[in-house]
Amino acid sequence: MFRLAHLSDVHLGPLPDVAYRDLVSKRITGYVNWHRNRRQFLHDSVIDAIIGDMKAAAPDHVAVTGDLVNLALDIEIDMARQWLELLGNPHDVSVVPGNHDAYVPGAFDKVCRAWGNWMTSDGGSPPRDREAFPYLRIRENIALIGVTSARATAPFMATGYFREGQRRRLAKLLDETGAKNLFRVVMIHHPPIRSAVGAHKRLFGIGRFQKTVLRHGAELVLHGHSHMPSLYTIDGKDGRVPVVGVSAAGQAPGGSRPAAQWNQLDISGEKGNWTLRLARRGLTGASMPPVELSSMDLLGETAVMPVVEPLPL
Ligand SMILES: [Fe+2]
Ligand SMILES: [Fe+2]
Repeated sequence: MFRLAHLSDVHLGPLPDVAYRDLVSKRITGYVNWHRNRRQFLHDSVIDAIIGDMKAAAPDHVAVTGDLVNLALDIEIDMARQWLELLGNPHDVSVVPGNHDAYVPGAFDKVCRAWGNWMTSDGGSPPRDREAFPYLRIRENIALIGVTSARATAPFMATGYFREGQRRRLAKLLDETGAKNLFRVVMIHHPPIRSAVGAHKRLFGIGRFQKTVLRHGAELVLHGHSHMPSLYTIDGKDGRVPVVGVSAAGQAPGGSRPAAQWNQLDISGEKGNWTLRLARRGLTGASMPPVELSSMDLLGETAVMPVVEPLPL
């Protein structure tokens, strides 16, 4: 059995003191929004409780699906690198960037430099830009494939992008790892699902992503961005593919979104006979330790039937 932990959207805070010169363009919007909406609901102690609970479960690997920071200031990016070092060895932790990590032009490349060790293909060098994505890591019989959907956008927008270059590279990786009979996990920040988030937060390239999975196959898709513990399925080459979201790992109880959670994904079996069990663990109230909130089989004979995303047109 391989235990994969999934967490997302830590939005590390509190925000460091921001210099006036940093508060230009899009960052003014983000700074005001952050103070208005997030500061009271995103807390370090919440993140620490989630990470402590996750580590106690001794996962074989940790997937972090983006939005580690808020405004992608240099100091935030460095703070997140230190947080990643505490989270785990780069060999055992895989990260994909989110829209907040690429909040302004230039931030994405800085993130590649700072967090590159957690986004590096086996035997490769750390990514220098988005051309290095998707990356591939193989741990036991699990293929971890990290796609980036992050890109700087206009103020008030939180859209993501899955374009032709990544489609081509993802298709090749899915074929290669499928031929090796591996359990293929695709990590992407934005949900590749039409109904998952509003238009200003959507992924451009949902149809392209779904067709890629339909033609080349995958066993599991993990995403963040919605801050919701959602579950969908899309059609894959070898059967239904669960698409799993998670609550923001920094979300304190009492906000409009569910309190902080992480997903425990236990994978067993072999090609043609995989079993996948999802347990959601998280907070139920202030000062309460994380507990198991639900558990269900997503692959195998006892798998449940979650919401099905219609076939791509
Ligand atoms: Fe987020
Ligand atoms: Fe996001």
